Amino acid sequence: MTRRLKVMTVFGTRPEAIKMAPVVMALQAEPETFESIVCVTAQHREMLDQVLELFEIKPDIDLDLMRPNQDLYELTSRVLMGMRDVLRQHQPDIILVHGDTTTTMATSLAGFYARIPVGHVEAGLRTFDKYYPFPEEINRVVTDSVASLYFPPTERSRQNLLDAGVPEPAIFLTGNTVIDALLFTLQKTGSQPLPLNLNPQNRMILVTVHRRENFGQPLVEICEAFQELVATYADVELVIPVHMNPNVRQTVFKMLGDTPRIHLIEPLDYAPFCRLMNEAYFIITDSGGIQEEAPSIQKPVLVLRDETERPEAVEMGTVKLVGPHKQRILAEAGQLLTNPDAYNLMSQKANPYGDGKAAQRTIDALKVFMSGSLSTRKAQAVS
Ligand code: UD1
Ligand code: UDP
Repeated sequence: MTRRLKVMTVFGTRPEAIKMAPVVMALQAEPETFESIVCVTAQHREMLDQVLELFEIKPDIDLDLMRPNQDLYELTSRVLMGMRDVLRQHQPDIILVHGDTTTTMATSLAGFYARIPVGHVEAGLRTFDKYYPFPEEINRVVTDSVASLYFPPTERSRQNLLDAGVPEPAIFLTGNTVIDALLFTLQKTGSQPLPLNLNPQNRMILVTVHRRENFGQPLVEICEAFQELVATYADVELVIPVHMNPNVRQTVFKMLGDTPRIHLIEPLDYAPFCRLMNEAYFIITDSGGIQEEAPSIQKPVLVLRDETERPEAVEMGTVKLVGPHKQRILAEAGQLLTNPDAYNLMSQKANPYGDGKAAQRTIDALKVFMSGSLSTRKAQAVS
């Protein structure tokens, strides 16, 4: 019998867990080929556990690293030290990381120090602006410098890798695993009731905000826009599952806490959050993952950022960048609320980010890696 490939999947935050869950499930469905080890850093605690429960993932290792209001220096060092010991003990053949968090970047570095190959799921996203998003842009660049296998979700991200000098045979275009997670979740739980009671006569706008670049004055301006939005449109309700980062909570609860028709709720489990996205008239967010999910359910998105590493849906016309700017938020939200043609243009059903089969493509690529034929691919690509 040939030896199984020992694959260690490492993640720490809510979005990484959502997007890695389909990969873990695909690995575990082929136990004769893969030995799957799941390691969570728990950079997030409650918001990570919500996802593990939904996808029934029991981590083999839990570093339990989250501390209140953690800063980047301490978190990075704790992940690096934690992963040093985990890698020494478990010696995987390959490590899979996801996206652009501190867990992703520091785990990749730990893999490099241990000379263990790293596979980067959702590789190649770029804004080409070092400080925006911060620190995610540099986390992506570091991870892509260290990785040996790359799983970009779109042709654009694949091209970014090629432009950065990544050898073509190491790149596997997969689509984004978030679509696998979304379709799985809607199918499993889509018919369950909504997590809160809303007036059916009203239109509901779903809002999330958490980016570090928006802390402070930008978030104040965003909240002012929301106050004015509900004051202007009497049939509009805002639902805001408030991120657990204290820098978000302080401002949002202080400014919007007692505003009629603005519902501040705790972060939702992924399943009820998907149902809420489905029910929303449209979405306002600075989240990366939600920009990718919304086109699959025909929901227009206004993005509270000035740049995005996910330009595909902007080009398609379903996502608009409004930044943290009060007047732009009000103008674009107003268009969607009052102009049916503008609304219809933004609610097309097509998704440039994936088709729900990204996880299978990812593990098929691992089989190529395992067979040692990456170098053959290289030879073929070169000749
Ligand atoms: C992190 C990622 C960001 C990602 C986001 C997804 C980094 C630097 N940032 O940002 O890229 O888009 O997650 O949500 O990797 N907290 C809790 N419970 C939780 C989660 C967070 O209490 O379950 C609080 C803690 O006080 C924690 C703080 O939020 O210290 C910040 O968490 P952290 O992961 O450092 O940053 P995020 O803003 O969540
Ligand atoms: N999400 C969730 N519950 C919430 C808010 C968001 O499950 O209350 C999901 C959302 O559908 C998406 C992911 O969390 O899949 C996005 O996470 P986040 O916005 O925290 O991070 P980002 O994608 O910006 O890194």
